[in-house]
Amino acid sequence: MFSGKVVLITGASSGIGAATAISFASKGALLALTGRNAINLQNIAEKCEEKSNSKPLTIIGDLTIDSDVRNILDTTIKSYGKLDILINNAGILASGSIEDTTIEQYDEIFATNVRPVYLLTHLAVPHLIKTKGNIVNVSSLAGLRAFAVVLAYSMSKAALDHFTRCVSLALAPKHVRVNSVNPGVIITDIHARSGMLKTEYIEYLKKMNDMHPIGRVGEAEEVANAIVFLASDEASFITGETLSVAGGRQHVCPR
Ligand SMILES: NC(=O)c1ccc[n+]([C@@H]2O[C@H](COP(=O)([O-])OP(=O)(O)OC[C@H]3O[C@@H](n4cnc5c(N)ncnc54)[C@H](OP(=O)(O)O)[C@@H]3O)[C@@H](O)[C@H]2O)c1
Repeated sequence: MFSGKVVLITGASSGIGAATAISFASKGALLALTGRNAINLQNIAEKCEEKSNSKPLTIIGDLTIDSDVRNILDTTIKSYGKLDILINNAGILASGSIEDTTIEQYDEIFATNVRPVYLLTHLAVPHLIKTKGNIVNVSSLAGLRAFAVVLAYSMSKAALDHFTRCVSLALAPKHVRVNSVNPGVIITDIHARSGMLKTEYIEYLKKMNDMHPIGRVGEAEEVANAIVFLASDEASFITGETLSVAGGRQHVCPR
């Protein structure tokens, strides 16, 4: 399905990005995988290699550092000579409302979830125009719906969704599609990394199972399936879309 296609995935060392890398590998893609944790990234690269017999390129980098972002793109182009698909997946989560989110926390969220997406996409676009490629941004249900207690994160994902819409219009005449996936709660390390204790996480998941009409939270592979679909020729007439992968939660209203 993706034979000969070069796919660059940020945040490939964990969770949704890792599942996406493995799925693309099983469909024949040539991968450029990036993250900060070298050991985790290597483990995922090995799993990809088992699926495809082709060794992914791994690039260690911190997306909050502009020179690392530039290096990620440059290394991909130097190694493969082109780019077909960009998956802007890396992100961090933080809780807090307007009363208890500091401006420093706001800056940290935007520095990770928004700014590098802008820069990496800006750098990648000339290459994507050449290949008539596409972009999938990993947003969140929090970009589409309002959650009082995840303010900065929700704002960052709403910014990402509007980025998807605006960039899709700019690039449609150049045959580059741009879409987002908007997951509900998915089991990954992101909640623990945001400071949630294990006991809190168990309670949170119980509550969240009920919040999703399908009756459970999601798995990283279910988001990966949607990303791979949007990146494929099966989605050839879809651009500027924000696709909820949320078990129906996007339509829930308290009653
Ligand atoms: N899990 C959910 O419930 C959920 C729901 C909606 C949306 N999402 C979105 O899905 C995306 C992936 O999240 P996940 O759940 O898979 O989380 P995760 O398991 O914590 O993975 C996050 C990934 O982002 C990378 N990353 C974070 N900060 C980075 C930085 N400064 N520089 C480079 N890489 C960085 C991490 O790299 P290292 O580990 O190598 O540092 C890791 O690979 C995020 O954009 C998140 O907002 C998740």
